[in-house]
Amino acid sequence: MKVNLKVNGRSRTVDVEPRKTLLDTLREDLALVGSHAGCEHGVCGACTILLDGVPVRSCLMFAAQSDGYEITTIEGLAPAPGELGVIQDAFCETHGLQCGYCTPGMILTAHSLLERVENPTREDIVEAISGNICRCTGYGQIVEAIEFAADRLRKANAPRHLKGSHANEPVKDPNAKTDAPQEGILEAAEADTPHGGRS
Ligand code: FES
Ligand code: FES
Repeated sequence: MKVNLKVNGRSRTVDVEPRKTLLDTLREDLALVGSHAGCEHGVCGACTILLDGVPVRSCLMFAAQSDGYEITTIEGLAPAPGELGVIQDAFCETHGLQCGYCTPGMILTAHSLLERVENPTREDIVEAISGNICRCTGYGQIVEAIEFAADRLRKANAPRHLKGSHANEPVKDPNAKTDAPQEGILEAAEADTPHGGRS
């Protein structure tokens, strides 16, 4: 069957079996392999994607069910090819990943949290990522990464709640004459220092 998917701001048509999961469709038909297959039973969170901004397990959905939703994968969070978004960068800087298998799901979950909560407590962060299993890090650096990203996003003073229909689109300021892209966020990312160099 033909299914129309809107992924990372692009409309894509795929021809899939009705029983094909969204996870397998993303990986096999759209070559978006950042969404990982872990348990494939809805337990580990490695396959997390955003559906209209909400984290969901793509292993538990059929591709056909996601027709009409805005899908965001980890590939959609990078500001440009070869660049890292603020949260991705924070994970690198605080050593929030080791093997990296859980990392895309963690980052998308963190992205969703930080879109809603500007100044999350440690408890908020722990609760948000409680559905994402990491086998390597012990979670300490992951929590630190999300706190660090939240701090940078606050200092960037970007109007996150005014984002466009897709996380990778420029943020629109309704008071500006032209689009006001994520200047603050980009500045924060550019001001990054190498591993361990932050104060
Ligand atoms: S692969 Fe989907 S929750 Fe584990
Ligand atoms: S970094 Fe290896 S599973 Fe989390």
